[in-house]
Amino acid sequence: MTTAILLTGGTGTLGRLLLPHLREAGRPVRVLTRRRPAEQAPGVEYALGDLATNDNVERAVDGAATIVHCAGSAKGDDVKAANLLQAAVRAGAEHVVYISVVGADRVPVRSAMDRMAFGYFAAKRAAEVLVAESGIPWTTLRASQFHELTLTTVRQLARMPVVPVPAGVRFQPVDGAEVAARLAELALGEPAGLVPDLAGPRAYGFDELVRSYLRAAGRRRPVVRMPMGGGAYRAIREGANLAPDRAVGRRTWEEFLQANV
Ligand SMILES: NC(=O)c1ccc[n+]([C@@H]2O[C@H](COP(=O)([O-])OP(=O)(O)OC[C@H]3O[C@@H](n4cnc5c(N)ncnc54)[C@H](OP(=O)(O)O)[C@@H]3O)[C@@H](O)[C@H]2O)c1
Repeated sequence: MTTAILLTGGTGTLGRLLLPHLREAGRPVRVLTRRRPAEQAPGVEYALGDLATNDNVERAVDGAATIVHCAGSAKGDDVKAANLLQAAVRAGAEHVVYISVVGADRVPVRSAMDRMAFGYFAAKRAAEVLVAESGIPWTTLRASQFHELTLTTVRQLARMPVVPVPAGVRFQPVDGAEVAARLAELALGEPAGLVPDLAGPRAYGFDELVRSYLRAAGRRRPVVRMPMGGGAYRAIREGANLAPDRAVGRRTWEEFLQANV
């Protein structure tokens, strides 16, 4: 049986950080992507396919003993997981490793308003269940928001003359490289089911994250805290997206900001 690894999302923030670990382990790595990247990692095979439309997924999965599923987007991660897993079962994959989000099981997404702002959590939870029920031995890691995504988000918000942030929402950002290193360890190990969460060293108010970015970038903007409605927002305000007992990430948001802004 081959020991090849299929990595979905290998062109994304996490996947690009994960690739060198998998390569160093000496396993053949294939990346599933919708379009061939301009910069290709050495020694990696790129297979074109789309998990949302299910185009060419079977071909990409063929021969992969381990599947590390890092492809994701704001919407539709449940559909992407379903298509991938269907092909993986048919191909006889031996281990599927999934990256989910802290709070996937604790943020209730019931109303249209919940879905609009926090549907991501429900899709991640649905994907987790699909992975666990696929029949393929599995490992799922829930991580908190990466520093990289946090920076992209606050940077975009800071373009506005007045920056609105949802009141009372906190994040516990973690370094993407640390998540990649842990995921590599899991992918190269035995299936372990749901493993302990990986979250950053400290939780910050959303407004605090924006303000610290503005300071680092030498810019001034008023930041306005806006209340929102709905059960998902309430749960998040109560910390459902945080893992204070798993604040094991080492690189702080301040260190990341200093290096990247
Ligand atoms: N970012 C965070 O803070 C965070 C926190 C916890 C968990 N996660 C999870 O970690 C994973 C990676 O996140 P990231 O921030 O690295 O994402 P990212 O930078 O946005 O990259 C997304 C990746 O998904 C692939 N992708 C998207 N739609 C696809 C489709 N229909 N078919 C095939 N590939 C598709 C993209 O590949 P191509 O564009 O090359 O096709 C790309 O490689 C996601 O599952 C996310 O939910 C992220």
